[in-house]
Amino acid sequence: MGNPTLSVTDNRTGKAYELPIKNGTIRAMDLRQIKSDEKDFGVMSYDPAFLNTVSCESRITYIDGDAGILRYRGYPIEQLAEKKTFLDVAYLLLYGELPTPAQVEEFEARIERHTFIHENTKKFMEGFRYDAHPMSMLVSSIAALSTFYPDARNVEDPAIRELMTIRLIAKVPTLAAYAFRHSNGLPFVYPDNDLTYTSNFMNMLWKMAEPKYQPNPVLARALDILFILHADHEQNCSTSTMRVVGSSQADPFLSTASAAAALSGPLHGGANEEVLRMIDEIGTPDNIPSFMESVKKGERKLMGFGHRVYKNYDPRAKVIRETAESVFAVTGRNPKVDIAREIEKIALNDEYFIKRRLYPNVDFYSGIIYEAMGFRPEMFTVLFAIPRTTGWLAHWEEQCKDGDTKISRPRQVYLGQNERNVP
Ligand code: CMC
Repeated sequence: MGNPTLSVTDNRTGKAYELPIKNGTIRAMDLRQIKSDEKDFGVMSYDPAFLNTVSCESRITYIDGDAGILRYRGYPIEQLAEKKTFLDVAYLLLYGELPTPAQVEEFEARIERHTFIHENTKKFMEGFRYDAHPMSMLVSSIAALSTFYPDARNVEDPAIRELMTIRLIAKVPTLAAYAFRHSNGLPFVYPDNDLTYTSNFMNMLWKMAEPKYQPNPVLARALDILFILHADHEQNCSTSTMRVVGSSQADPFLSTASAAAALSGPLHGGANEEVLRMIDEIGTPDNIPSFMESVKKGERKLMGFGHRVYKNYDPRAKVIRETAESVFAVTGRNPKVDIAREIEKIALNDEYFIKRRLYPNVDFYSGIIYEAMGFRPEMFTVLFAIPRTTGWLAHWEEQCKDGDTKISRPRQVYLGQNERNVP
């Protein structure tokens, strides 16, 4: 069809309108011509949780939620997880193509140059209480980076944007590791730039008195795969936050801190922490049926299940399930995986979950691997935020270059009091 349109008849006036359809969407602004009379503002669309609202055009990540497909720049997530490193994938998300060996070497060297953080950031982090949540420490310290890089405000300069992007990807693991060490009352460990991105992160987490930290290669690869799987997921809550805050031309440290804050919620990235708490609460397999009954009665949610977009098995959850076995071969089996698998089995055969098309999402199995590796649940969302920083920045860059970008500013329907006089 040449120029597809949508015909709309306003039954208040009997007038008919032809709205162009492009890429399966109508422009919400085209609705404004539909007015009940001259004075009418025009029709708007009401969509509080953006269930059916497209906020941008993007060329980064493709999801087919019905088929359970996820691709970064066209490449299936399963192939990237099998064949590539996290930094290859970060490069792909940012620049649109997989890097050549020379390109990835240069990219890695640029990241390594920026892994250290200002000593004052360290002092700032020492000020957090011993029991501060690591995700709150991460959000605050990412925002604090803004105070060290005043140039970051110059968001219209592509070279500045690129430098700040490299800085953020390099420094977020350092901040995350410092949050972990602070929680454990351990001294901070400086980055070791001989190691890869993921291995250096493990070094900053776990190095003790040994002169040189050597990560277990199986665990380092598993963490790298988890980073690949979490790197981007198109217009989710935190990425949309990045775009909304970025649209005001706030600097990228502050926009990233806002995105990380959105990620921390239990309905978003914080779900991985909640899954482990839920499994702990269930305790033993014989408690699963009564737990599932309470979910079906609406008394609680099955954390790590359901997704706004996926109405099929989350492809990331499949890869994580498989990766778990390689981790357990090193760390020993985390018995919680058996409870998780039993929950999954029951749910996938139960009418409540089938009818609502609720499947395990990325957060269902990730925490079980993280726990086997030695992380407490409070760290899980931090581990999600590290790779997702790249996704947020890829979207921010895309938005900065998009000629359609304007400050995000939704409308409301005002249902409050009419004008009245103060007595
Ligand atoms: N347990 C039990 N029922 C559920 C669940 C769940 N986890 N998720 C959705 N439902 C039910 C929901 O009650 C509703 O039932 P009804 O039609 O009878 O009212 C129906 O399924 C549709 O759910 P919804 O709340 O309209 O779906 P949504 O798209 O607004 O919410 C979600 C998506 C991810 C917030 C939700 O599924 C949820 O809260 N899941 C648990 C939290 C979680 O695992 N979040 C991680 C998401 S994936 C990674 C990420 O985003 O970081």
